Parts: sequence; C-alpha cells; structure tokens
Amino acid sequence: MPSLPHDQVIPILDFGSQYVQLIARRVREAGVFSILVRPDITIEELKAMNPKGLILSGGPSSVYEKNAPKCDPRLFDLDIPILGICYGMQVGSQLLGASIQSAKAREYGRARLNILDSSDLLEGIPQQTTVWMSHGDQADALNEDFISLASTPTCPFAAVKHKVKPFFGVQFHPEVTHTPHGIDLLSNFLYHICDCQNTWRMANFVEQVAQQVHEQVGDGRVICGLSGGVDSSVVAALLSKAIGSQLTCIFVDNGLLRKNERQMVETMVRDHFDIDLRVVDATKEFHADLAGIEDPQEKRKRIGHRFIEVFKEASADIPGIRFLAQGTLYPDVIESGHGYSGAAANIKLHHNVGGLPEELGFELIEPLRELFKDEVRKLGEVLGLTEQMVWRHPFPGPGLAVRILGDITQEKLELLRDADEILLEEIVANNLYRRTAQVFAVLLPIQAVGVMGDGRTYESVVAIRAVESQDFMTADWARIPYDVLATISNRIINEVRGVNRVVYDISSKPPATIEWE
Ligand code: XMP
Repeated sequence: MPSLPHDQVIPILDFGSQYVQLIARRVREAGVFSILVRPDITIEELKAMNPKGLILSGGPSSVYEKNAPKCDPRLFDLDIPILGICYGMQVGSQLLGASIQSAKAREYGRARLNILDSSDLLEGIPQQTTVWMSHGDQADALNEDFISLASTPTCPFAAVKHKVKPFFGVQFHPEVTHTPHGIDLLSNFLYHICDCQNTWRMANFVEQVAQQVHEQVGDGRVICGLSGGVDSSVVAALLSKAIGSQLTCIFVDNGLLRKNERQMVETMVRDHFDIDLRVVDATKEFHADLAGIEDPQEKRKRIGHRFIEVFKEASADIPGIRFLAQGTLYPDVIESGHGYSGAAANIKLHHNVGGLPEELGFELIEPLRELFKDEVRKLGEVLGLTEQMVWRHPFPGPGLAVRILGDITQEKLELLRDADEILLEEIVANNLYRRTAQVFAVLLPIQAVGVMGDGRTYESVVAIRAVESQDFMTADWARIPYDVLATISNRIINEVRGVNRVVYDISSKPPATIEWE
C-alpha cells in the first residue's frame, strides 16, 4: 500500500539515534504528520513529499568518523526550516561551514540551560531550564554566521540559529521527557517556524485510510487473519468501515489458545462489528503436528506451516479473494529494513508465525504500516473498539505451545489454561493489567516434591511471568505486590490439580526473553 498523501509532513532524517522514533511520535502528538527517512535521501525525493520542514535526528556517530552517515549537501536548497538535534545539529552546521570540536567534557544527563534569545525557537520557555544532554562532540567554534540562543555551563552553543538560512540546532534532546520544555521547543519549530497547523488526527487518518483502501480494492474481496490481538482487530474494524461486506475474517483455533479465548474473540467480533467471521477449528491438525516435539523452534516451524495450510484452505472456500489485510506496524517496517531504515536500526528477530508467504498470491493491504503501537490503540478507540480489546496484552502466535516447556499433551494444556486463567483473574482484579505489558503462566518440565497430608507428592511447577515493557524489545519483571503473588500462588496450588509449586520469574530482558521458549 503506498504512503498516504498528507497535506503537511515533517520528514525526520534518521541518523540512528535511539530516540528517533520518539521524535516522530512527539511531532505527531503535536498534530503534525511525521515520517522517518533514510539520512541519505535525495533532495528530489524530499521535494516530492512537499515537506513543511525537516528534522535531522541525533545519532551515535561523530561527524569526524570515517563512516559517519551523511546527508545530501543540497538540503538547504529546499529553503524550508531545518532543526538539527545533537548529531543532526552538527551535520547541519557543518554543511553551513561551521567546524565541530570534540568536546573536552562529554556531556550526558541533565544540564542547566540558560536562554540567551527567546525570540523564536525558545519562545515562552523559562530563561533557566533543564535539558537532557547525550553527546561527545559539540559545536563550540561556530563562526559569526550563527547566533547562540542558549548555553549550558560546558556548552556555549547549546541552541543556535543561522543568521541567513532557516537552520536551528540544539545540542540537547527536546524529545525526551527529561527535557521538560522540549515539547514547547518542538511546537515553536512546528507552528511558528514551519507554519504547520495542529491538524493531524486519528479521525482524519481513519477517513484517509478508508478512502485509500476503497480505491485500492474497488469491488474486490479482502481476507484478514484475525487473532483477537489489538493489531488485527484494528485492521478488521478499519476495513469493515471502509469496505463492509467485501471483508472476510478468518480466525484459526489452533488448539493452543487460552481458556475460552475462541469464544471471547467470536463474541467480541460479533457483538461489535458486522464482519463475516469464519472460525476454523484446526485443533486436531496442530496437536498431531506437535505430538512428541520438544524443541521450541521445531514447534514454531510446525505451527507456522500448519497455519499457512489452514489459512490457504479456508481462503479457497471464499471466491474472488484478491487481497490480504495484515496488521504490520511502523516499527516492523522500520526494523525489517523495508521502510526508511535508519543508520543504526535494530534488527529484530521476527517471530511472526502468523506471517503469510507471498506464494499465496494475494495483494497486501497494510493500513497500519505508518503507525506506532500506541497510535494503533488510539485508532482502535476512535473505531469504537472496547477498552478490553484496545488494551489486550500480546499473545504469541504459537500460543501455549511455547509456554509448555518440552512436549505438549492435552493434560498439560488443560493444567496451564487453568493456572493462566487464575493468574489473569487476579491481575485484573488487582488493577494490574494496564500497568503490565504481558502476564502469563509457564508450565515447567519438571516435577517437584511436595507434601500433602502425610504423603510426599511429585507434581508440576508453574512459573509466573509478568513484565513491564514499552516495545517488547527490552523488558523488566513487574514488581507485583507480594500479597497479590501470595493469592495467585495459593489459588493455583489449591485450585489446579497437579501443581504443588509456583515460582515467580524475576529476570529482565535482556538477557532473558519474555517467553521461556
Ligand atoms: P521474546 O520472548 O522474544 O518476546 O522476548 C517478545 C514478544 O514477542 C512475543 N513472541 C512471539 N510472538 N510468535 C509471536 O507471534 C512467536 O513465536 C513469539 N515468540 C515471542 C512475546 O510474547 C513478546 O510479546
């Protein structure tokens, strides 16, 4: 699906800063559409976007390193305002003839900013304020073409502007929350300097996407794999709005779902949307494929293959399907290198068992490919999804198969479903669901000794995993109150037959992963 037309856009040249996605989000939160672009994008490509302004991001390099990412030296011919942040400031000022020094004192963390000129970029910001610094090099020998707008005790040019060209630079990071007036600075740049309007809204986005999907699809039929997770639910709701009865959703029950999950998803869809939903029960096939398999990657492989088979078969029953809708998000686009991949973009290990191969021959519709996860949730709210749907924790495609360590049997599945249900009930009852990113139970492949009455028991051990995470690339174990853990443990041991021990996982990611397999 091609990029959406936006009447105002701020491209951000991604020089590899860890904060680059945050800059994009801040600009969008200010009501202006922004997009990450490669640092070496040409001026012609930029012109085609008709940008209102440009941001040069920070980055881990020094401008003097041999392989430091460079940008088109003709950027200033665009004659639009440019804001350089940290490395971006150094790149921009270097293009305008300044020399950059390696700072005597590398500056990391909070610094006191003293504002010298508050006429434009720093308008309305208190004269003394705190900013977040994270840099080695700094521009401390700018020529007389530059005006210093603010300084810190160790950085005389903490914020600058060029006398003639519409270039502004800041040595600190306005996009992070540790810079309390950073949003004001970005707003000044967007509204006063670039003349943007605060108009980018989810509701407009829904209209735009609906119209675009309509144009792409015509009277063709679209199929969508629905898992009940946030992304696929939002895609289904969005497409249902755009093309109504031309959409068919397929929900595959792989027999590895949580307790009552299939009924829950069915009810949720049928109660809220007028969608042609087909539920395929392939439990037997998946279980047969997994019999006796212990290796996690082999489990994933078999589940992935079976999923494709089941999906193929189900779609063959629906005549005239030409399109496949998927919930690919912007970070996936960036991380897979298909979008405007930054200089230091992380390469994420793509699990994506639900991913369908090109051989299926469908044309792809990916209406969320410009959005971040939190924007998808906002979109879900705009589309009328319930709070429960919008805030669901993620659940992996291979489901409970990767939460039963070792081989999978019917008894183990039932045991884990019961334990997991109790865990989630308690998490919800104690108002911890929204405060955690993912919570689940894992069945360990060992028997532990216990005592019941006068006898020794050998029974299963259930591990509880609860994490806090923004992006699931890193995570920390959630500090669930002891009392809640005690209730969870008591209930599982008393109510789930075959469990005599519950343990709590206190590992962070990295080095552990969120799932155990
Ligand atoms: P890890 O375990 O790698 O998990 O820290 C990060 C996120 O990905 C989910 N996950 C998966 N999702 N298929 C999926 O669709 C998989 O095979 C898979 N493995 C892990 C995990 O639940 C967490 O949200």
